[in-house]
Amino acid sequence: MNYGTSVLGLGMYVPPRVWANADFERILNTSDEWIRSRTGVEERRFVEEEVCTSDIAAQASLEALKNAHVHPEEIDLVIVATATPDYLFPSTACMVQQKIQASRAAAFDISAGCSGFIYALCTAQQYLASGLYQKVLVVGAETLSKFIDMEDRNTCVLLGDGAGAMVLGRNDATNQFLSFVLGADGSGGIHLELPAGGSKRPASTDTVAGRQHYLKMNGREVFKWAVEKMVWASRQALAKAELPIEEVNWLIPHQANLRIIDGIRERLSFPQEKVLVSLPKYGNTSAASIPLTLAEGITAGKVRDGDLLLLVGFGAGFTWGASLIRWHALGAQQ
Ligand SMILES: CC(C)(COP(=O)(O)OP(=O)(O)OC[C@H]1O[C@@H](n2cnc3c(N)ncnc32)[C@H](O)[C@@H]1OP(=O)(O)O)[C@@H](O)C(=O)NCCC(=O)NCCS
Repeated sequence: MNYGTSVLGLGMYVPPRVWANADFERILNTSDEWIRSRTGVEERRFVEEEVCTSDIAAQASLEALKNAHVHPEEIDLVIVATATPDYLFPSTACMVQQKIQASRAAAFDISAGCSGFIYALCTAQQYLASGLYQKVLVVGAETLSKFIDMEDRNTCVLLGDGAGAMVLGRNDATNQFLSFVLGADGSGGIHLELPAGGSKRPASTDTVAGRQHYLKMNGREVFKWAVEKMVWASRQALAKAELPIEEVNWLIPHQANLRIIDGIRERLSFPQEKVLVSLPKYGNTSAASIPLTLAEGITAGKVRDGDLLLLVGFGAGFTWGASLIRWHALGAQQ
Protein backbone atom coordinates (compact mmCIF):
# COMPACT_ATOMS: atom_id res chain seq x y z
CA MET A 1 0.00 0.00 0.00
CA ASN A 2 1.00 3.62 -0.55
CA TYR A 3 0.88 5.95 2.44
CA GLY A 4 0.09 9.67 2.24
CA THR A 5 2.88 12.21 2.73
CA SER A 6 2.62 15.68 4.20
CA VAL A 7 4.90 18.58 5.03
CA LEU A 8 5.20 18.96 8.80
CA GLY A 9 7.49 21.95 8.99
CA LEU A 10 9.78 24.24 7.01
CA GLY A 11 12.88 26.19 8.01
CA MET A 12 15.48 28.40 6.39
CA TYR A 13 18.79 29.98 7.29
CA VAL A 14 20.95 32.56 5.56
CA PRO A 15 24.25 33.78 6.98
CA PRO A 16 24.21 37.37 8.28
CA ARG A 17 27.03 38.72 6.07
CA VAL A 18 25.52 40.68 3.16
CA TRP A 19 27.61 41.07 0.00
CA ALA A 20 26.10 43.75 -2.26
CA ASN A 21 26.75 44.26 -5.98
CA ALA A 22 28.73 47.37 -5.03
CA ASP A 23 31.17 45.10 -3.14
CA PHE A 24 32.04 43.43 -6.47
CA GLU A 25 32.57 46.83 -8.09
CA ARG A 26 35.50 47.29 -5.69
CA ILE A 27 37.31 44.09 -6.81
CA LEU A 28 36.17 43.38 -10.38
CA ASN A 29 35.50 45.08 -13.69
CA THR A 30 31.72 44.98 -13.23
CA SER A 31 28.87 47.23 -12.14
CA ASP A 32 25.74 47.12 -10.02
CA GLU A 33 23.80 48.13 -13.15
CA TRP A 34 25.17 45.17 -15.21
CA ILE A 35 24.49 42.62 -12.49
CA ARG A 36 20.94 43.86 -11.79
CA SER A 37 19.91 44.14 -15.43
CA ARG A 38 21.49 40.87 -16.66
CA THR A 39 20.67 38.67 -13.63
CA GLY A 40 18.26 40.42 -11.23
CA VAL A 41 20.60 39.88 -8.26
CA GLU A 42 21.03 42.88 -5.92
CA GLU A 43 22.82 41.25 -3.00
CA ARG A 44 23.65 37.81 -1.61
CA ARG A 45 24.79 36.29 1.68
CA PHE A 46 28.25 34.81 2.22
CA VAL A 47 29.28 32.66 5.20
CA GLU A 48 32.31 33.53 7.31
CA GLU A 49 35.47 31.52 6.62
CA GLU A 50 34.99 29.07 9.50
CA VAL A 51 31.39 28.19 8.57
CA CYS A 52 30.69 25.14 6.39
CA THR A 53 27.62 23.73 4.61
CA SER A 54 26.54 21.40 7.43
CA ASP A 55 26.55 24.35 9.87
CA ILE A 56 23.93 26.29 7.92
CA ALA A 57 22.06 23.09 6.99
CA ALA A 58 21.77 22.29 10.70
CA GLN A 59 20.42 25.78 11.47
CA ALA A 60 17.68 25.47 8.83
CA SER A 61 16.92 21.91 10.02
CA LEU A 62 16.49 22.96 13.65
CA GLU A 63 14.06 25.67 12.58
CA ALA A 64 12.09 23.18 10.44
CA LEU A 65 11.94 20.70 13.35
CA LYS A 66 10.77 23.43 15.71
CA ASN A 67 8.03 24.54 13.29
CA ALA A 68 6.98 20.90 12.83
CA HIS A 69 6.95 20.21 16.57
CA VAL A 70 9.11 17.18 15.84
CA HIS A 71 12.00 16.08 18.08
CA PRO A 72 15.26 15.25 16.25
CA GLU A 73 15.10 11.70 17.60
CA GLU A 74 11.85 11.12 15.74
CA ILE A 75 13.63 11.57 12.38
CA ASP A 76 14.25 8.29 10.50
CA LEU A 77 16.30 9.70 7.62
CA VAL A 78 18.27 12.88 6.81
CA ILE A 79 18.79 13.71 3.12
CA VAL A 80 20.99 16.68 2.22
CA ALA A 81 21.01 18.01 -1.34
CA THR A 82 24.21 19.96 -1.94
CA ALA A 83 26.83 20.73 -4.58
CA THR A 84 29.13 22.20 -1.93
CA PRO A 85 29.56 19.41 0.67
CA ASP A 86 31.78 19.71 3.74
CA TYR A 87 33.93 16.85 2.36
CA LEU A 88 33.91 14.38 -0.57
CA PHE A 89 33.21 11.96 2.29
CA PRO A 90 31.79 11.59 4.89
CA SER A 91 28.49 12.97 3.64
CA THR A 92 27.20 16.36 4.74
CA ALA A 93 23.99 14.58 5.83
CA CYS A 94 26.03 12.65 8.43
CA MET A 95 27.46 15.93 9.74
CA VAL A 96 23.93 17.37 9.99
CA GLN A 97 22.63 14.20 11.65
CA GLN A 98 25.28 14.58 14.33
CA LYS A 99 24.84 18.37 14.75
CA ILE A 100 21.07 18.20 15.26
CA GLN A 101 21.35 14.94 17.26
CA ALA A 102 19.01 12.94 15.07
CA SER A 103 20.50 9.84 16.67
CA ARG A 104 18.07 7.32 15.15
CA ALA A 105 18.38 8.61 11.59
CA ALA A 106 20.08 7.19 8.52
CA ALA A 107 21.76 9.87 6.42
CA PHE A 108 22.97 10.45 2.87
CA ASP A 109 23.63 13.24 0.34
CA ILE A 110 22.13 13.83 -3.07
CA SER A 111 24.25 15.41 -5.80
CA ALA A 112 21.98 16.93 -8.44
CA GLY A 113 23.20 20.55 -8.51
CA CYS A 114 20.48 23.17 -8.34
CA SER A 115 17.77 20.50 -8.90
CA GLY A 116 18.97 18.76 -5.75
CA PHE A 117 16.08 19.80 -3.51
CA ILE A 118 13.45 18.40 -5.91
CA TYR A 119 15.45 15.16 -6.26
CA ALA A 120 15.72 14.93 -2.45
CA LEU A 121 12.04 15.69 -1.93
CA CYS A 122 11.04 12.99 -4.39
CA THR A 123 13.39 10.49 -2.74
CA ALA A 124 12.06 11.31 0.74
CA GLN A 125 8.48 10.98 -0.45
CA GLN A 126 9.16 7.46 -1.77
CA TYR A 127 10.54 6.30 1.60
CA LEU A 128 7.39 7.61 3.31
CA ALA A 129 4.87 6.39 0.73
CA SER A 130 6.38 2.89 0.81
CA GLY A 131 5.92 2.77 4.57
CA LEU A 132 9.61 2.22 5.34
CA TYR A 133 9.92 5.45 7.31
CA GLN A 134 7.64 7.82 9.23
CA LYS A 135 9.57 11.09 9.32
CA VAL A 136 12.25 12.34 6.92
CA LEU A 137 14.25 15.58 7.03
CA VAL A 138 15.10 17.03 3.59
CA VAL A 139 17.68 19.83 3.35
CA GLY A 140 19.02 21.93 0.48
CA ALA A 141 22.16 23.76 1.62
CA GLU A 142 25.08 25.49 -0.10
CA THR A 143 28.18 27.48 0.70
CA LEU A 144 28.90 28.42 -2.91
CA SER A 145 31.13 31.28 -1.73
CA LYS A 146 33.77 28.64 -0.95
CA PHE A 147 33.85 27.43 -4.58
CA ILE A 148 33.49 30.60 -6.64
CA ASP A 149 36.43 32.27 -8.32
CA MET A 150 36.30 35.89 -7.12
CA GLU A 151 38.37 36.80 -10.21
CA ASP A 152 35.76 35.37 -12.63
CA ARG A 153 33.04 37.98 -13.17
CA ASN A 154 31.01 35.53 -15.31
CA THR A 155 30.18 33.36 -12.30
CA CYS A 156 30.96 34.96 -8.94
CA VAL A 157 28.27 37.66 -9.13
CA LEU A 158 25.48 35.08 -9.54
CA LEU A 159 25.80 32.88 -6.46
CA GLY A 160 25.11 33.00 -2.74
CA ASP A 161 24.99 30.88 0.43
CA GLY A 162 21.92 29.61 2.27
CA ALA A 163 19.92 26.63 3.45
CA GLY A 164 16.30 25.46 3.50
CA ALA A 165 14.86 22.40 5.22
CA MET A 166 11.57 20.49 5.28
CA VAL A 167 10.29 17.83 7.66
CA LEU A 168 8.04 15.33 5.87
CA GLY A 169 5.76 12.84 7.61
CA ARG A 170 3.79 9.75 6.67
CA ASN A 171 0.03 9.70 7.24
CA ASP A 172 -2.94 7.51 6.39
CA ALA A 173 -5.23 10.19 4.99
CA THR A 174 -3.80 12.74 2.57
CA ASN A 175 -0.99 13.07 0.10
CA GLN A 176 0.21 16.62 -0.51
CA PHE A 177 2.58 15.57 -3.30
CA LEU A 178 0.49 15.31 -6.47
CA SER A 179 3.31 14.62 -8.93
CA PHE A 180 7.06 14.45 -9.43
CA VAL A 181 9.13 14.68 -12.61
CA LEU A 182 12.91 14.16 -12.65
CA GLY A 183 15.30 14.22 -15.61
CA ALA A 184 18.99 14.32 -16.52
CA ASP A 185 21.31 14.64 -19.53
CA GLY A 186 25.00 14.11 -18.76
CA SER A 187 26.02 15.51 -22.16
CA GLY A 188 25.44 18.96 -20.63
CA GLY A 189 27.81 18.27 -17.73
CA ILE A 190 30.73 20.15 -19.30
CA HIS A 191 28.80 23.43 -19.25
CA LEU A 192 28.65 23.71 -15.46
CA GLU A 193 31.32 21.92 -13.46
CA LEU A 194 33.93 22.01 -10.75
CA PRO A 195 36.75 20.45 -12.78
CA ALA A 196 39.26 19.22 -10.17
CA GLY A 197 39.37 17.56 -6.78
CA GLY A 198 37.54 14.39 -7.84
CA SER A 199 38.94 11.08 -9.16
CA LYS A 200 39.23 12.39 -12.72
CA ARG A 201 41.55 15.28 -11.78
CA PRO A 202 42.75 14.82 -8.21
CA ALA A 203 44.12 17.88 -6.43
CA SER A 204 47.69 18.76 -7.46
CA THR A 205 49.80 21.89 -7.54
CA ASP A 206 48.83 22.22 -11.22
CA THR A 207 45.08 22.05 -10.55
CA VAL A 208 45.42 24.65 -7.81
CA ALA A 209 47.58 26.94 -9.97
CA GLY A 210 45.06 26.54 -12.82
CA ARG A 211 42.18 27.59 -10.55
CA GLN A 212 40.50 24.26 -11.33
CA HIS A 213 38.94 23.94 -7.87
CA TYR A 214 36.49 26.71 -8.67
CA LEU A 215 33.13 26.46 -10.43
CA LYS A 216 33.27 26.95 -14.23
CA MET A 217 30.26 27.76 -16.33
CA ASN A 218 29.22 28.39 -19.92
CA GLY A 219 26.44 30.84 -19.01
CA ARG A 220 24.76 31.02 -22.42
CA GLU A 221 24.41 27.22 -22.75
CA VAL A 222 23.13 26.90 -19.18
CA PHE A 223 20.60 29.66 -19.81
CA LYS A 224 19.20 27.93 -22.93
CA TRP A 225 18.91 24.49 -21.33
CA ALA A 226 17.48 25.89 -18.09
CA VAL A 227 14.53 27.58 -19.79
CA GLU A 228 13.76 24.63 -22.07
CA LYS A 229 13.96 21.93 -19.39
CA MET A 230 12.12 23.84 -16.66
CA VAL A 231 9.25 24.53 -19.07
CA TRP A 232 9.17 20.83 -20.07
CA ALA A 233 9.31 19.59 -16.46
CA SER A 234 6.55 22.01 -15.40
CA ARG A 235 4.27 20.79 -18.20
CA GLN A 236 5.01 17.13 -17.35
CA ALA A 237 4.27 17.65 -13.64
CA LEU A 238 0.91 19.25 -14.53
CA ALA A 239 0.07 16.49 -17.02
CA LYS A 240 0.88 13.74 -14.51
CA ALA A 241 -1.43 15.32 -11.94
CA GLU A 242 -4.03 16.01 -14.67
CA LEU A 243 -4.26 19.65 -13.61
CA PRO A 244 -4.26 22.78 -15.83
CA ILE A 245 -1.71 25.51 -15.16
CA GLU A 246 -4.56 27.93 -14.41
CA GLU A 247 -5.07 26.09 -11.09
CA VAL A 248 -1.52 26.78 -9.91
CA ASN A 249 -1.46 29.48 -7.21
CA TRP A 250 2.31 29.84 -6.99
CA LEU A 251 5.17 28.97 -9.32
CA ILE A 252 8.37 28.50 -7.30
CA PRO A 253 11.22 28.17 -9.81
CA HIS A 254 14.90 27.67 -9.07
CA GLN A 255 16.33 31.17 -8.59
CA ALA A 256 19.12 31.31 -11.18
CA ASN A 257 18.43 34.50 -13.09
CA LEU A 258 15.33 36.72 -13.37
CA ARG A 259 15.58 36.49 -17.16
CA ILE A 260 15.45 32.67 -16.94
CA ILE A 261 12.42 32.90 -14.62
CA ASP A 262 10.73 35.32 -17.06
CA GLY A 263 11.51 32.99 -19.96
CA ILE A 264 9.79 30.07 -18.21
CA ARG A 265 6.83 32.17 -17.16
CA GLU A 266 6.29 33.58 -20.64
CA ARG A 267 6.45 30.16 -22.31
CA LEU A 268 3.97 28.79 -19.78
CA SER A 269 1.76 31.92 -20.15
CA PHE A 270 1.82 32.25 -16.38
CA PRO A 271 1.17 35.58 -14.61
CA GLN A 272 4.16 37.35 -13.08
CA GLU A 273 2.33 38.17 -9.83
CA LYS A 274 2.02 34.44 -9.09
CA VAL A 275 5.75 33.73 -9.24
CA LEU A 276 7.70 33.66 -5.96
CA VAL A 277 11.11 35.29 -6.23
CA SER A 278 13.89 35.64 -3.66
CA LEU A 279 16.80 36.02 -6.12
CA PRO A 280 17.35 39.81 -5.67
CA LYS A 281 18.18 39.28 -1.95
CA TYR A 282 20.01 35.95 -2.00
CA GLY A 283 21.31 35.32 -5.55
CA ASN A 284 21.42 31.75 -6.82
CA THR A 285 21.74 29.49 -3.76
CA SER A 286 21.55 26.29 -5.87
CA ALA A 287 19.87 23.43 -3.95
CA ALA A 288 18.71 25.87 -1.25
CA SER A 289 16.92 28.27 -3.58
CA ILE A 290 13.51 26.54 -3.81
CA PRO A 291 12.98 25.86 -0.07
CA LEU A 292 14.32 29.35 0.78
CA THR A 293 11.88 30.96 -1.62
CA LEU A 294 8.96 28.86 -0.35
CA ALA A 295 9.82 29.65 3.28
CA GLU A 296 9.85 33.36 2.49
CA GLY A 297 6.51 33.06 0.66
CA ILE A 298 4.98 31.46 3.73
CA THR A 299 6.43 34.00 6.15
CA ALA A 300 5.15 36.83 3.95
CA GLY A 301 1.65 35.31 4.15
CA LYS A 302 1.51 34.74 0.38
CA VAL A 303 1.30 30.93 0.37
CA ARG A 304 -1.93 29.82 2.05
CA ASP A 305 -3.64 26.59 3.01
CA GLY A 306 -5.01 24.74 0.01
CA ASP A 307 -2.77 26.55 -2.53
CA LEU A 308 -1.41 24.55 -5.43
CA LEU A 309 2.36 25.01 -5.74
CA LEU A 310 4.51 24.18 -8.77
CA LEU A 311 8.17 23.75 -7.83
CA VAL A 312 10.65 23.48 -10.70
CA GLY A 313 14.44 23.30 -10.80
CA PHE A 314 17.41 22.90 -13.15
CA GLY A 315 21.09 22.44 -12.44
CA ALA A 316 24.51 20.87 -12.97
CA GLY A 317 24.51 17.46 -14.60
CA PHE A 318 22.41 18.66 -16.34
CA THR A 319 19.49 17.73 -14.11
CA TRP A 320 15.95 19.03 -13.84
CA GLY A 321 12.83 18.30 -11.84
CA ALA A 322 9.37 19.54 -10.90
CA SER A 323 6.73 18.78 -8.31
CA LEU A 324 3.13 19.80 -7.75
CA ILE A 325 2.20 20.19 -4.11
CA ARG A 326 -1.17 20.90 -2.51
CA TRP A 327 -0.02 23.07 0.36
CA HIS A 328 -1.44 22.53 3.83
CA ALA A 329 0.36 24.65 6.36
CA LEU A 330 2.69 22.67 8.49
CA GLY A 331 0.76 19.46 9.25
CA ALA A 332 1.79 18.97 12.87
CA GLN A 333 0.52 22.40 13.90
CA GLN A 334 -3.02 21.80 12.65
C1 LIG B 1 25.86 34.37 -16.81
C2 LIG B 1 24.81 35.25 -17.48
C3 LIG B 1 24.21 36.19 -16.45
C4 LIG B 1 25.48 36.06 -18.56
O1 LIG B 1 24.52 36.90 -19.17
P1 LIG B 1 24.50 37.06 -20.76
O2 LIG B 1 23.46 38.05 -21.07
O3 LIG B 1 24.35 35.68 -21.33
O4 LIG B 1 25.88 37.67 -21.03
P2 LIG B 1 27.01 37.10 -22.02
O5 LIG B 1 27.54 35.81 -21.53
O6 LIG B 1 26.44 37.15 -23.40
O7 LIG B 1 28.09 38.20 -21.83
C5 LIG B 1 27.88 39.52 -22.29
C6 LIG B 1 29.08 40.35 -21.91
O8 LIG B 1 29.02 40.67 -20.52
C7 LIG B 1 30.28 40.40 -19.92
N1 LIG B 1 30.09 40.06 -18.52
C8 LIG B 1 29.93 38.84 -17.97
N2 LIG B 1 29.82 38.96 -16.64
C9 LIG B 1 29.91 40.27 -16.35
C10 LIG B 1 29.85 41.02 -15.16
N3 LIG B 1 29.69 40.42 -13.97
N4 LIG B 1 29.96 42.35 -15.24
C11 LIG B 1 30.11 42.97 -16.41
N5 LIG B 1 30.18 42.31 -17.57
C12 LIG B 1 30.06 40.99 -17.55
C13 LIG B 1 30.82 39.25 -20.72
O9 LIG B 1 32.24 39.18 -20.56
C14 LIG B 1 30.42 39.64 -22.12
O10 LIG B 1 31.32 40.58 -22.61
P3 LIG B 1 31.92 40.43 -24.08
O11 LIG B 1 30.73 40.50 -24.98
O12 LIG B 1 32.86 41.58 -24.17
O13 LIG B 1 32.58 39.10 -24.10
C15 LIG B 1 23.69 34.40 -18.13
O14 LIG B 1 24.18 33.71 -19.23
C16 LIG B 1 23.09 33.40 -17.16
O15 LIG B 1 22.44 33.77 -16.21
N6 LIG B 1 23.29 32.10 -17.43
C17 LIG B 1 22.76 31.06 -16.55
C18 LIG B 1 23.54 31.01 -15.30
C19 LIG B 1 22.96 30.09 -14.31
O16 LIG B 1 21.79 30.15 -14.08
N7 LIG B 1 23.79 29.26 -13.69
C20 LIG B 1 23.38 28.37 -12.70
C21 LIG B 1 22.54 27.32 -13.31
S1 LIG B 1 21.53 26.50 -12.26
